[in-house]
Amino acid sequence: MMKIAVAGTGYVGLVTGVCLAENGHSVTCVDIDEDKVALMRDGVSPIYEPGLEELMKKNMEKLHFTTDYQQAYKDADVIFIGVGTPEKKDGSANLSYVYGVAEQIAESIEKDCVVVVKSTVPIGTNDKIEEIIKSSLKNDVNVYVASNPEFLAQGSAVKDTLHASRIVVGVEEEFAGKVLREVYKGFDAPIIVTNRKSAEMIKYASNDFLALKISFINEIANLCEIIGADIEDVALGMGYDTRIGNRFLNAGIGYGGSCFPKDTKALHWLANFHDYELKTVKAAIDVNENQKLKLIKKSRKYFDSFKDLNVAVLGLTFKPGTDDLREAPTLVNIPLMLEDGANVKAWDPVGAKNFKKLHPDDVTYCETIEDTIKDADVCFIFTEWDEVKNFDLTKYAELMKTPIVLDGRNCYRLKDAAKAKVIYDSVGRESIN
Ligand code: UGA
Repeated sequence: MMKIAVAGTGYVGLVTGVCLAENGHSVTCVDIDEDKVALMRDGVSPIYEPGLEELMKKNMEKLHFTTDYQQAYKDADVIFIGVGTPEKKDGSANLSYVYGVAEQIAESIEKDCVVVVKSTVPIGTNDKIEEIIKSSLKNDVNVYVASNPEFLAQGSAVKDTLHASRIVVGVEEEFAGKVLREVYKGFDAPIIVTNRKSAEMIKYASNDFLALKISFINEIANLCEIIGADIEDVALGMGYDTRIGNRFLNAGIGYGGSCFPKDTKALHWLANFHDYELKTVKAAIDVNENQKLKLIKKSRKYFDSFKDLNVAVLGLTFKPGTDDLREAPTLVNIPLMLEDGANVKAWDPVGAKNFKKLHPDDVTYCETIEDTIKDADVCFIFTEWDEVKNFDLTKYAELMKTPIVLDGRNCYRLKDAAKAKVIYDSVGRESIN
């Protein structure tokens, strides 16, 4: 068992901390937000993540939560940095939180320790973190900095951590590698040890490749619509080739979330900074921006303006299984509808609360899909929640004023839509009138 501290209790920090406690370590999670810390001390997760709260409650004896970073870091064997690296206006990553934690570590540690950078940071940042810590150390101790990028996805974060596809460890000294192998003993995943810059690059390259895969399938979907092919069949046929793989080939209205948009822009920015143009990543970014507006563009087939239209919106979050709205397509689509004079009613099983903070008065929030679509002139599907996928299609025809369903996540089979007598337009498939 090791004494571990984790800086930051967002998706990365909290899930890491809880899973390390589950693996037998004593873990102190540090956050600056007193209210959040109080919640977590009561065993309540401040983020919506399936299975996380249960695992927290199960491991409360090994888990500690505090705002007192000095106390947490001073005698830790290992300190994980899991604070955010949000996007700056120019597309680069804002590293001020990460560097802030590095300063705090330098002033607090009283024994040798390994500092593990889990936050997604541009290539070369681990070196900078080491420099900051070593140049401000208060006590005469040895510090080893290791890169250990995170590959968890929201909605399946606990599973992705306990049964990770891989654990990537980037170190410059053998000792740090040995410590991290010890930390992850018992985890069900292959461990890849490399140098720090390669580890940092593995993270960006992985996320950007997935973003590229999505933008690629979205472009093929757009072309399928034009030439009369069916993207679902095309993706199925492609996916059987194990060199391509069948995952992340779901066409839709583009990727959102806190990672792909930010990480594609950050790597593109970094390449530019080094006078290199990452053309494929740039293409992924551009395609995604356009794709987000796809349904609105499609809707022009059915009406010229949103003025006085009753619009039903199903799904607000960037994907199912999370209440996160970051970079969700709804954030650009709903304001456009509202500006154009639409009456918007929206439903989301967990994301409505957060959306309401942004649009308290101009959107009506409904508890059920039925209430949302009742008397609607058109229905937009932005998130493929199970409740939407399992919804009885005949109800659209029954409850809506005009049963036009614009589906940005291909939730239904075309033959079911045809049978249910709805006007159904999805992505990369024939439209049903
Ligand atoms: C993503 C990666 O999947 C994780 O491996 C990574 O660790 C994480 O970023 C991170 O860097 O922290 P996440 O953003 O939680 O995870 O969500 P994804 O499931 O990857 O979905 C991202 C977006 O892509 C969503 O908007 C989703 O709807 C979209 N998507 C995904 C598609 O449009 N089509 C697909 O086939 C798959």
